[in-house]
Amino acid sequence: MYYAIQLPKRVVFGSGIADKIGGEAKLLGAKRALIVTDETMEKKGLCDKVEKPLREVLEEVEVFDKVESEPTLAIADEVVRASKNNYDLVVGIGGGSVLDMAKVASAAAANPEQEASAFLGANKIKNPSVSKILIPTTAGTGSEATPFALVVVEGKKKAIASSYNLADVVFIDATFTATMPPRVTAFTGMDALSHAIEAFLSLGANPLTDSFALEAMGKISNNLEEAFLHGDNLNARMEMSLAAMLAGIAFGNAGVIAGHAIAHAFGARYKVPHGVSAALTLPYIMEYNASAPAVGARMKEIATALVGEKIESAEEAASKAIACVRSMIERLELPARLSELNVPKEDLSKLAEDVEKEKGYLKRNPREMGLEDAMKLLESMW
Ligand SMILES: [Fe+2]
Repeated sequence: MYYAIQLPKRVVFGSGIADKIGGEAKLLGAKRALIVTDETMEKKGLCDKVEKPLREVLEEVEVFDKVESEPTLAIADEVVRASKNNYDLVVGIGGGSVLDMAKVASAAAANPEQEASAFLGANKIKNPSVSKILIPTTAGTGSEATPFALVVVEGKKKAIASSYNLADVVFIDATFTATMPPRVTAFTGMDALSHAIEAFLSLGANPLTDSFALEAMGKISNNLEEAFLHGDNLNARMEMSLAAMLAGIAFGNAGVIAGHAIAHAFGARYKVPHGVSAALTLPYIMEYNASAPAVGARMKEIATALVGEKIESAEEAASKAIACVRSMIERLELPARLSELNVPKEDLSKLAEDVEKEKGYLKRNPREMGLEDAMKLLESMW
């Protein structure tokens, strides 16, 4: 038996530390940087906070701010075009979509002959990407810590998976997440919880990913509601930022399971924010997997992380863990059923077919999931 995990090279973590970004760029030996972001970051002034200290130490700093959420191949193509100016550093500042596009930009800067579509799949980036610093402004996707970049191709999420996507520096300033409105705080935080729990249940889990996943679960259970209710509580924000990154490391290595296959299926079709669909699916996928023989012991550990008590019976642990997640969804005012999202009941069979095609996620699920299983699960979610 053996296992391995891959990590970002360096993590800089704190609050009110934007001025340290210049030093990080210098440590990387950079001269010409491209900042990848979106218009919201520009409006919030977060891009400025990073751009100014970078301008003080670098010869050239350009900004690409055209990233849209759930970026399509057309956006990725634009990013690739914007990257062709001999940049030796890419700095991504934003939510998961922005960070994913920063990964594409750093790959493109080192691979001028490759189109965005040529990066799709596993290990398709030819030359190692140029240096990148990833600065998350949400606490959820964990993209800052994963080797994946997701692109929407013909309505479906496809991954660019490569160790070259790992950040040289993950730069987390928790004050950047304090501008998130409560609803975004809620669903991005629940996305992080789904990463931690799905990675922990994944057949790809190992003792290292487990420790990251469990630590993330505890932090989210203790701090997400506080961050949702009192967005200016910096301690809760810091704990959530840390948890999202830890969960990112866990699922970046162990992978997520059928929950994300389902969340991607209806999220893409009905344009539901990813965190909302991941949160909605989470208790159902926990329930579905709880009956798998190997999962019982794992449910006890999840329950301890979430509710802080040791429970002897696996069955009781599973039901307490699931109840805890359900009550979080309710208190965070997130939808609990597909019908609340106006998903037509007659579409469920199409969704089940989409889920069944997501073999990558399903093969890591601890309980087998066929077309009929997916259909039953979707009906219960409706
Ligand atoms: Fe997710």
